[in-house]
Amino acid sequence: MSLAFSPASRAVDDPELSTKEFGRIARIIRAEAGIHLADAKTSLVYSRLVKRLRALGVTSFAAYCDLVESPGGTAELQKMVEALTTNYTFFLREPHHFDHLRREVLPDLLAEAARGRRVRIWSAGCSMGHETYSIALQILAVAPDAGRLDVKILATDIDRNVLATARAGRYDEATLAAVPKAERERGFLPADAAGLFEARPELRGLVTFRELNLLDDWPMNGQFDIVFFRNVAIYFDQPLREALWARMAKHIRPGGWLYAGHSERITGAAAQFFSHEATTTYRRHDR
Ligand SMILES: C[S@@+](CC[C@H](N)C(=O)[O-])C[C@H]1O[C@@H](n2cnc3c(N)ncnc32)[C@H](O)[C@@H]1O
Repeated sequence: MSLAFSPASRAVDDPELSTKEFGRIARIIRAEAGIHLADAKTSLVYSRLVKRLRALGVTSFAAYCDLVESPGGTAELQKMVEALTTNYTFFLREPHHFDHLRREVLPDLLAEAARGRRVRIWSAGCSMGHETYSIALQILAVAPDAGRLDVKILATDIDRNVLATARAGRYDEATLAAVPKAERERGFLPADAAGLFEARPELRGLVTFRELNLLDDWPMNGQFDIVFFRNVAIYFDQPLREALWARMAKHIRPGGWLYAGHSERITGAAAQFFSHEATTTYRRHDR
């Protein structure tokens, strides 16, 4: 019996993906990005990476792994990571978080900002910017003059392609469909000739996008008032998730907030620092 993965749609010249090579790819992506690839992901890995092999003219997955692990393979390793990350996101995803933010958290925080306090928010694993701009829209809803305050959202991701989309800040009508019309008009310019709505300077000015691999050192100074770390940890294994929750805890000020994804829960050493305040909404309680 062959253990090689070979989909029906495979072109004649396309390589097979053996169990051994899948294991090697899984080890590389775990070490580089923290992403845990279960065996069930074989067909996903195949379909995403075979395009890279074709583009490079590489004829086997073993040769591709040799390339990304070679001293000159850093650029391709980045492309491999980008191919294997899941960037699925949408505006106002998990809307209860944005309602909570707007009603329970931002009014006091932005009132303090109006008295000169610095407010810092982190959208960690921001993908194409939908989460980040959703946060910024809530800020403008509470404080339309937020641009005059010291209020900033740092948005980070490992994937340069999604960051380019996020920085462009241009979305079509279907992508913005979940955003109420008044909020959309406050945050985005009217549609251009291509039907794209571009983030207004007031919205864009609240946000800074940066490349950051969560496995690396975090160069941020100071603690955050609010962290959105949603639907990222789900791709990691339990020990890594718990290590990241613990690092997050140190980067959130006492009394600060952490929003997790719908299937994520804070467990491990970090759990002692947080109280569970609402659905997947945590607060550092040692305030
Ligand atoms: C499914 S998206 C979630 C986007 C958004 N937070 C949301 O909830 O809609 C996951 C994002 O995490 C990013 N990611 C995965 N591993 C990462 C890592 N090690 N460091 C930084 N970002 C990572 C991916 O590139 C992807 O854009």
